Amino acid sequence: MVVLVLGSGAREHALVHSLTRDPSVDAVLALPGNPGIAALARCLPGDPADPRSVVEVVLAEGVDLVVVGPEAPLVAGVADAVRAAGVDCFGPGAGAARLEGSKAFAKEVMAAAGVPTAAAHVCTTLAQVEEALDATGAPYVVKEDGLAAGKGVVVTEDRGAALQHADACLSREGGTVVVEEHLDGPEVSLFCLSDGTDVVALDPAQDFKRVGEGDTGPNTGGMGAYSPTAWAPAHLVPQVLDTVARPTVVEMARRGMPFVGLLYVGLALTRSGPRVVEFNARFGDPETQVVLARLRTPLAGVLRAAARGELTTLPPLEWDPRPSVNVVVAAEHYPSTPATGDPVTGIDDAEQVPGVHVLHAGTRGGPGTLVSAGGRVLSVVAVADDLAQARERAYEAVARIGLRGSHTRPDIALAAAEGRVTAPEEG
Ligand code: AMP
Ligand code: GLY
Repeated sequence: MVVLVLGSGAREHALVHSLTRDPSVDAVLALPGNPGIAALARCLPGDPADPRSVVEVVLAEGVDLVVVGPEAPLVAGVADAVRAAGVDCFGPGAGAARLEGSKAFAKEVMAAAGVPTAAAHVCTTLAQVEEALDATGAPYVVKEDGLAAGKGVVVTEDRGAALQHADACLSREGGTVVVEEHLDGPEVSLFCLSDGTDVVALDPAQDFKRVGEGDTGPNTGGMGAYSPTAWAPAHLVPQVLDTVARPTVVEMARRGMPFVGLLYVGLALTRSGPRVVEFNARFGDPETQVVLARLRTPLAGVLRAAARGELTTLPPLEWDPRPSVNVVVAAEHYPSTPATGDPVTGIDDAEQVPGVHVLHAGTRGGPGTLVSAGGRVLSVVAVADDLAQARERAYEAVARIGLRGSHTRPDIALAAAEGRVTAPEEG
């Protein structure tokens, strides 16, 4: 089979890495890809969010399966266009992708499906926001309604800061904000494969969204991750499948917008049980890098089964029991105004650390001329016998990377490795 991966980040590099190892795959193409992906797959120029040019490539190259990485092509209807051309696509259509594209829509679907989530107030005026802030109390959670690359959410004790963020969001065209009840408890990301009817969960991961040590500073796209979440209760995955993923997939099918692809369930494990913090309509970044590092079942077969509505025929997924850790190497000044164009060195040396591989996110150029080209530059992934060793290996590899002004979070997976993360007793 010929597989086309859309996107250019470390998530897509991880997808390509796994797909090239699947014996049923003859060739992997990427649009547009990145320098790391180019070492494994043929990269094609173009805009992955332009349905017409993606379909042209799919037909010209004889692609059998399209795997959509980022959200923008989904929201733009690329998956609809690929399916209309008669080709399998792993990724929801524009209608179903609104589960990610609009937080207000996601809340409406969750309410209809009886999915446990934070109480929410959808607001279009500052007066409504003030009323909602009074209703929820501090800490305040204010979310921009549309896509914001993980940066549209402000969680703060400071009412003035909450109002300021709401005001900035409302002043944009069609501005809508969602004010939510604050959910307290450790977060888990659960990837649920869906073929429109059936759902299969991947192993859970935990993401680190804030830029600074100890969850300080602004939200980012994600500074690192680890998998599995050994501290979480064993019943978590079946419970979330029953109370969140399946009811959501059923509700979307009922609305005539079957969800085919990856339903990313972001959860907070609260004292009243797991509650949904967010849905995404695609693989999460940086969690994909740690989840796929442990998946032993060949990936293309899994994604094709989902794309074809054949998940029930899939045997249980097989996993490497060893944990994995991903430390993101971010450019100077990320997430505000990341520096670009700085030489990136030491990747080969980093990959000499046992169990380590390095995935490209924001890079351009080639061997010897590689430079930074985005906020998150690399994902350094390590697999080891335990979480402490996986961390050690990841950070040892990070130390071998050269990038002027770059920064990493020093505490990825630290609390879990030290046994300091616990799920609250449900009561
Ligand atoms: P979102 O874009 O909705 O995923 O939010 C980004 C991050 O903000 C989440 O991963 C949480 O860390 C935090 N967050 C979002 N909603 C809430 C909430 N209701 N309560 C507490 N934290 C939240
Ligand atoms: N890791 C969070 C996201 O992909 O949105």
